[in-house]
Amino acid sequence: MAYKTLEVTKDGGVCTIKLNRPKALNALCNELTMELAEALAKLETDDAIGCVILTGSDKAFAAGADIKELQDKTFLGQYDHDVFGLYWEAVARFRKPIIAAVAGYALGGGCEIAMMCDFIIAGDNAKFGQPEINLGVMPGAGGTQRLTRAVGKSKAMDMCLTGRMMGAEEAERSGLVSRVVPVDELMETAMSAAKKIAHQSLPIAMMTKETINTSFETTLAQGIHFERRLFQAMFATNDQKEGMSAFTEKRTPHFTNK
Ligand code: CAA
Repeated sequence: MAYKTLEVTKDGGVCTIKLNRPKALNALCNELTMELAEALAKLETDDAIGCVILTGSDKAFAAGADIKELQDKTFLGQYDHDVFGLYWEAVARFRKPIIAAVAGYALGGGCEIAMMCDFIIAGDNAKFGQPEINLGVMPGAGGTQRLTRAVGKSKAMDMCLTGRMMGAEEAERSGLVSRVVPVDELMETAMSAAKKIAHQSLPIAMMTKETINTSFETTLAQGIHFERRLFQAMFATNDQKEGMSAFTEKRTPHFTNK
């Protein structure tokens, strides 16, 4: 299906979703986030897809929520039609692995959407920030929570209170991104990581993702209990048998997602 604000392409088990509102630096208007939620819902049930890459342009991953759409909103307008919960959080709710490949600006909602992905690979020109305070508001799509968990209190306070941007190197040093590569190698690097993931057993990758995410929601003892149970459950899959047999037989495993 064709989207107005996204380019969606599929290649070898990987779907790349490119945010595509270049004139507005991929500002996250309602139409875009609605289309993004719709695209992800389709990919959730697409058996051919094992990993998704979310990306923007070389200049901007996304420069935040669309300020022009927001400026005249009222409290009830925001509350009644909670687009963050309805559409944006679809990225966080997505159950398959999803990588953010970020070049250029990832500001406000752009940084928040990137942080909803499982990990971020950054081009060396990436700039992350939560500049909402300059607009008389604060982050509203998880920035105060996810940024704090990613980089710690001091840096999250610094970013959200001053509104300053963080470059790619600082973002990697702080744990916000998993790797930084030259911007012209960004998509190749993201694709190579995504293909590696897409060739693994999908249910095992999904359970791994779910278990890591559980660590943010629970105590250490409960998280370890959850991990142990799912680890044990994995022994009911054919893919566990295949993965371990392939190792002992010195061959490449052929996972069937069963
Ligand atoms: N919303 C709407 N339009 C935006 C936008 C945004 N967040 N960011 C950029 N644009 C538009 C600009 O208005 C401009 O449009 P026109 O050509 O029609 O004037 C176009 O994109 C290009 O932008 P600039 O001319 O400003 O480009 P620049 O290279 O000079 O600056 C920038 C780039 C530093 C990213 C600057 O555009 C900027 O500061 N953008 C706003 C960043 C921001 O405040 N984001 C937070 C939004 S609020 C939010 O996200 C809330 C939340 O928590 C969910």
